[in-house]
Amino acid sequence: MSLIEDLKWRYATKKYDSTKKVNQEDIDKIVEAARLAPTSSGLQQFRVLVVSNQEIKEKLAPSSLNPEVMVDCSHVLVFAAWDKYTAERIDTIYNRITDERNLPRGRFDSYTDKIKNLYLNETPEENFEHTARQSYIGFAMAIAEAAELKIDSTPAEGFNNALVDELLDLKSLGLKSVTLLYLGYRDEAGDWLASMKKVRNPVEEFVIEYK
Ligand SMILES: Cc1cc2nc3c(=O)[nH]c(=O)nc-3n(C[C@H](O)[C@H](O)[C@H](O)COP(=O)(O)O)c2cc1C
Repeated sequence: MSLIEDLKWRYATKKYDSTKKVNQEDIDKIVEAARLAPTSSGLQQFRVLVVSNQEIKEKLAPSSLNPEVMVDCSHVLVFAAWDKYTAERIDTIYNRITDERNLPRGRFDSYTDKIKNLYLNETPEENFEHTARQSYIGFAMAIAEAAELKIDSTPAEGFNNALVDELLDLKSLGLKSVTLLYLGYRDEAGDWLASMKKVRNPVEEFVIEYK
């Protein structure tokens, strides 16, 4: 199927069949789609945490907008972004880029000096606003890849970020949670949304052309 058909097929699933689990190979593909996402300056400012542990899901459920989804889904992907920029983080990525391309380290110093000057003069909150935005690109790629694999998903911002950060000890990794992607297989009969029409702004409203 084409990407457009996959995107028409998917919907933000509201009820999962708790007896069906997504296999590891498919989880790996969904994570890989996120890993391949483009990011600003190529800094890959986010990570994906893969939660299939039922105990963790049950601890998170009561404070989530979709407690039943959290409990019944197969896996929860947590998209978490750098809490701030540091010179070390920027250098680590650029050293990897130069090493893997057999270029001399420092080849991009004038560029990395510029981005360090920009980001290291901002507050951590301003930094996180930018790093979090990068994580949404990977988030979207993962949503599309899940659809291609005919795995249902629910993108979610409706959860308790502080609790997720605490339970997964994200602070020690220098990360803060941004979004969740619930994954699994729909319970077609139990999901009120499964048979509903997908509604989007008409293309004439959505696209503004300058010819
Ligand atoms: C960033 C983001 C956050 C969302 N948060 C939630 C959420 O917490 N709970 C939920 O049930 N749906 C959530 N949604 C799903 C949207 O409501 C849904 O994608 C939208 O209504 C379009 O419907 P569709 O995805 O079924 O096509 C979220 C979607 C996005 C993109």
